[in-house]
Amino acid sequence: MRVLVLFYSMYGHVHRMAEAVAEGAKEAAGAEVRLMQVPELIPEEALEKAGAKKAREAFAHIPVAKPDDLADFDAILFGTPTRFGNMCSQMRNFLDQTGGLWAQNALVGKVGSVFTSTGTQHGGQETTITSFHSTLLHQGMIIVGLPYSESRQMTLDEITGGSPYGASTIAASDGSRMPSENELAMARFQGRHVATIAKKLSGT
Ligand SMILES: Cc1cc2nc3c(=O)[nH]c(=O)nc-3n(C[C@H](O)[C@H](O)[C@H](O)COP(=O)(O)O)c2cc1C
Repeated sequence: MRVLVLFYSMYGHVHRMAEAVAEGAKEAAGAEVRLMQVPELIPEEALEKAGAKKAREAFAHIPVAKPDDLADFDAILFGTPTRFGNMCSQMRNFLDQTGGLWAQNALVGKVGSVFTSTGTQHGGQETTITSFHSTLLHQGMIIVGLPYSESRQMTLDEITGGSPYGASTIAASDGSRMPSENELAMARFQGRHVATIAKKLSGT
């Protein structure tokens, strides 16, 4: 049973969450887990200007996926930072190249799940994930979120991401806040939960 964790990250927050999701997925017995990123679309000089070039070096070694790669997996967990309450254009562009897979029903019946990062607490934590789900439904994927049995999402003792839609982190408007232990634990839960369900569905 194969699980892909596919992400885009500009400053490293979604990358850190993706690592935790992958760690969790590996805890499901028999899961073969791969971590990949979607291609960058922003010109080098714009990345430099946005202060993202250095941050992106930390995960430059992670392989860049091709749209057809998605067909090789039983479950895919997608990680995207929010852009105006929606997924980022790098992920959108990648998904917009999966028309061939759609035409072949190649992703029908696979498990799909989404996690995110926003700058502010109410800047799109939930909308980014739920609007992403439409694409997964068009592809015939089975959507899995973060059930309330992961009770860390219910805490009011600290500011935290995480909702029934999926794991999330709050990066702060200047990007200074990295994922908290609570958020990383929810990301691990989501990875493990998705892999466990995919295992049951695939029977392997
Ligand atoms: C063009 C643009 C639009 C953004 N829109 C939002 C937004 O609507 N709400 C929000 O909370 N953060 C917004 N952000 C902040 C990003 O979501 C934040 O930088 C990201 O979650 C950090 O994750 P990363 O380090 O993995 O890129 C925006 C950032 C950019 C560059």
